[in-house]
Amino acid sequence: MIKKCLFPVAGYGTRFLPATKAMPKEMLPIVNKPLVQYGVEEAIEAGLTEIGLVTGRGKRAIADHFDVSYELEHQIAGTDKEKYLESIRNVMDKASFSMTRQKEMKGLGDAILNGQRLIGDEPFGVILSDDLCVTEGDGVLKQMVKLYNQFRCSIVAIQEIPLEKIHKFGVIAGEKIKDDLYQVKDMVEKPAAEDAPSNLAIIGRYILTPDIFDVIEDTPPGKNGEVQLTDALLKQAETGCVMAYKFKGRRFDCGSVEGFVEATNYVYENLYKE
Ligand code: G1P
Repeated sequence: MIKKCLFPVAGYGTRFLPATKAMPKEMLPIVNKPLVQYGVEEAIEAGLTEIGLVTGRGKRAIADHFDVSYELEHQIAGTDKEKYLESIRNVMDKASFSMTRQKEMKGLGDAILNGQRLIGDEPFGVILSDDLCVTEGDGVLKQMVKLYNQFRCSIVAIQEIPLEKIHKFGVIAGEKIKDDLYQVKDMVEKPAAEDAPSNLAIIGRYILTPDIFDVIEDTPPGKNGEVQLTDALLKQAETGCVMAYKFKGRRFDCGSVEGFVEATNYVYENLYKE
């Protein structure tokens, strides 16, 4: 059973400056809930209740968000405002939180490697909370956990992306097993459109088997001089098996202003309840 989920949350959020100068980008709200809480709720829904945050400097607000605020609790206990705390209380009841710090921004692979001490020797989920996923049925991570129980290997979530945007993603090529499932044969981090092996882009949801840590350790810096999870996953695919899953649902790129505004409108119109 998979119980743990890592959240790499050390990134700077440069695209949202100056909003993110003193506030973590993961705390930007989509309507009234911070991005990272949507991710944690998705993990809990998938049964992954041990949350590991790979944080960095200036990210204390994330840890505080998932901790009790005694003063606030005291002030609004018994008032009609208590309902506003319902969702975060629910998250705190169901999940436990551990943190570790990524000292330098050396890429997603490095962030995951930093999380090893929180994960140990078991399979785990990864959520990049910039990618907000909404679904009608099971959440994306829950869909992936079901697949993991069948295949017992690392799984990445994928989506078809227009070629003019493909340079922003990790991209896979694979052998089609079913309509929505590929066995990965190739993987490239942020290729130019002409070098992309397909239009199937990796989205920020992963299930990883723990041997990934040793593989990352042996992975030299790649694209942009950073240690790329995509490169480590390619090695796993070459020596073992990695699956790529076209998830059911919709993804918003909340790391970009455009996606963030789209997500805000969507959530306000479809999911928000006062
Ligand atoms: C990361 C991964 C990339 C993936 C993307 C999904 O990139 O390195 O492979 O496609 O997340 O959001 P980032 O957007 O953090 O640069």
